[in-house]
Amino acid sequence: MANNSTTMEKIVALCKRRGFVFQSSEIYGGIGGFWDYGPLGVELKRNVKEAWWRDMVSGHDETAVPAGAPAKYGMVGLDTTIIMHPQVWKASGHFDLFYDLFVDCRTCKARFRADQIQDSQCPRKPSLHPGEHAECDLTEPREFNLMFKTNIGALLDPSAEAYLRPETAQGIFVNFKNVLSSSRVKVPFGIAQIGKSFRNEITPRNFTFRSREFEQMEIEFFCSPEASQAWYSYWRDGRLAWYTALGLGSDKLRLREHGPEERAHYSCGTADIEYAFPFLPAGEFGELEGVSHRSDFDLRSHMEGKLIREGDALVVERNEHGQPKHPGSGKDLSYFDDTTQTKYVPHVIEPSAGADRATLAFLCEAYDEDAIPDEKGVPQERIVLRLHPRLAPIKAAVFPLVKKDGQPEIASEIYRTLKQRWNVFYDEKSSIGKRYRRQDESGTPFCITVDHQTMDDGTVTVRDRDTTEQIRIKQTEIEAWLAERL
Ligand code: GAP
Repeated sequence: MANNSTTMEKIVALCKRRGFVFQSSEIYGGIGGFWDYGPLGVELKRNVKEAWWRDMVSGHDETAVPAGAPAKYGMVGLDTTIIMHPQVWKASGHFDLFYDLFVDCRTCKARFRADQIQDSQCPRKPSLHPGEHAECDLTEPREFNLMFKTNIGALLDPSAEAYLRPETAQGIFVNFKNVLSSSRVKVPFGIAQIGKSFRNEITPRNFTFRSREFEQMEIEFFCSPEASQAWYSYWRDGRLAWYTALGLGSDKLRLREHGPEERAHYSCGTADIEYAFPFLPAGEFGELEGVSHRSDFDLRSHMEGKLIREGDALVVERNEHGQPKHPGSGKDLSYFDDTTQTKYVPHVIEPSAGADRATLAFLCEAYDEDAIPDEKGVPQERIVLRLHPRLAPIKAAVFPLVKKDGQPEIASEIYRTLKQRWNVFYDEKSSIGKRYRRQDESGTPFCITVDHQTMDDGTVTVRDRDTTEQIRIKQTEIEAWLAERL
């Protein structure tokens, strides 16, 4: 569990030193808001995504009612494109409304998010906020659409303009009918997707927390209007429990239900799952995932066109000629429920998580410093990543104690056997203490060492990363022993 001395500087330094995260294009000076995952980072993030996919989609049992769920339900996946028909973003509302307000300083030409002025520094005098220096000359707040624009094909005119998706969700909504007609799912069911999203954030910051290119893990869960509140509660509580089960079980994790004034105009309920990241002041939390009850807003938008709220109703926004301002597809996205013999536009519950933010939270939570005795019994400070074994990039490391007496041969044999099932690591360089500490910093839960006794009785030592305790088990039992714990 992360201790109080965990700082962002320490996390960033560890990420660079051990190959979790690097700045993108670093040899050219880097590029703001873009990050690369190194050899350990790619394994960690893949494990986060695979745990999510396994727990939400491929491992879901649709023949039973899960604890806390109102009914049985189906889950399927999708992998849709990053660039979609531009009308998708007009009907969804992103074209008109997906913006942040920014202000420019006419003197120093710096740009700030209007709602982050009090968290930003004046480039001329970093102890002051923008606007506080005598020479600051800030503009009025202006809108800045966060979608990255690109062109399709050789034409550069507006008809060829397209956008990199700012969320994976819309790829799911526009495929709702395809999924219904091609698979055997029935409402209630969810469609899941993991993929890259892009937002031209005005001020990317806090390491990977606010990036311009990031990955989302989103579920759009389709249900009847009557059952939607019960499903909202199920997903909100279930998603919180998922983070807890993977190690964010401390007081650093919380669920925050939005008040009506904070919710989007179409939402009947929104909660954020938040984590107290070390870059935040004490008592503040940052969003890991939003769980939202989106009513029938999304499917109706793609049927009828961009919707706005008028009183209690969602109605199509019209232009000066009375036509839909941004028309939808005109396709019927309603659902005929053959158990109740009713037709309706399904309501949507959306648990929307960020793979990079989850990875960062697991890293922050896992970071710890303690002192353990070295070979001579002298306490040595160590950095240890107490990652959940499912998330650990390397599941076990295999060492020969010395590079002779047949030990490397036996250790290699163990390594080769385990490698068929897990990402394991072989190391015979430097002292055993250094090898252990390297693995502690990488978050490897178990280190297996072949020593002199192995040659006599066929046992090896297995060292536990968290307790540093060592036990002896038979070489022939290692695989089963690990399988029980990973
Ligand atoms: N479809 C709903 C949606 O996209 P969101 O709250 O804007 O909702 C969902 O994004 C999640 O995506 C966030 O909770 C966060 O984990 C992640 N996310 C959003 N913007 C991000 C950014 N600039 N950098 C990293 N992750 C981001």
